[in-house]
Amino acid sequence: MAEKNIILPVHIGFIMDGNGRWAKKRGMPRTFGHREGAKAFRRITEYCNDIGVKYITFYAFSTENWSRPKEEVDAIMKLFKEYLLEANDLTEKNIRLVFLGDKSRFDTELRNRMTDLEDKSRDHDGMTVALAMNYGGRDDIVYAVKNVVHLLKENKISEDEINEDLITRNLYTGDIPDADLIIRPSGEKRLSNFLIWQSSYAEFYFTDVLWPDFGPSDLDRALEDYASRGRRFGGV
Ligand code: IPE
Ligand code: IPE
Ligand code: MG
Repeated sequence: MAEKNIILPVHIGFIMDGNGRWAKKRGMPRTFGHREGAKAFRRITEYCNDIGVKYITFYAFSTENWSRPKEEVDAIMKLFKEYLLEANDLTEKNIRLVFLGDKSRFDTELRNRMTDLEDKSRDHDGMTVALAMNYGGRDDIVYAVKNVVHLLKENKISEDEINEDLITRNLYTGDIPDADLIIRPSGEKRLSNFLIWQSSYAEFYFTDVLWPDFGPSDLDRALEDYASRGRRFGGV
């Protein structure tokens, strides 16, 4: 358990990477790794809720991941359906679930499941769990720009009201604060188009642990590292 009184990040982003390699190491199909990865998602969500983290975002499927072989994409979509059914009980813990990304690319069943979870947990004031699915940081910015143009056209805002705060509020993340800490397992050291606007002052933590193996003790290590950093935001 993370040490008491440690400075906790308000918002943690997890890039759930390394599922395929985890499975390959075991001579299993990649899908098996995705299934184990979903278990890690559950484990980390519960742990974050226990220790009092307010916002967590999981990168589950990027706008670039559609370029994978159809069989893998289909298997991931099937898993999403199963896990979103299971995610129902999270909404019973006062958790708010939100989805980041363009839902229109998913089939009706998946889309309905996503909106249903969002609708039923909208007013929950416990932890917010955001699932980035068909998410890309650049697409997020395009989405915000379109929202802002719409507000302009409708005369709801004037040009001089366009500022960083307005753009921030019009991203998929809406009222979710900027990411304080981004964790990427699997040894890769890149953002891969995750929360690019929201991570402008985030701290980064990289580990070679593969996502299906990632557990509370790995998160504790990341949190201790985070707590030891001096965040200056450009000041002194
Ligand atoms: C992350 O694991 C899951 C998704 C991108 C959907 P990967 O599938 O990228 O696993 P590796 O990187 O190939 O090991
Ligand atoms: C990033 O992982 C996307 C998700 C974890 C959902 P990738 O495996 O797709 O990233 P790259 O291809 O290594 O950059
Ligand atoms: Mg990967």
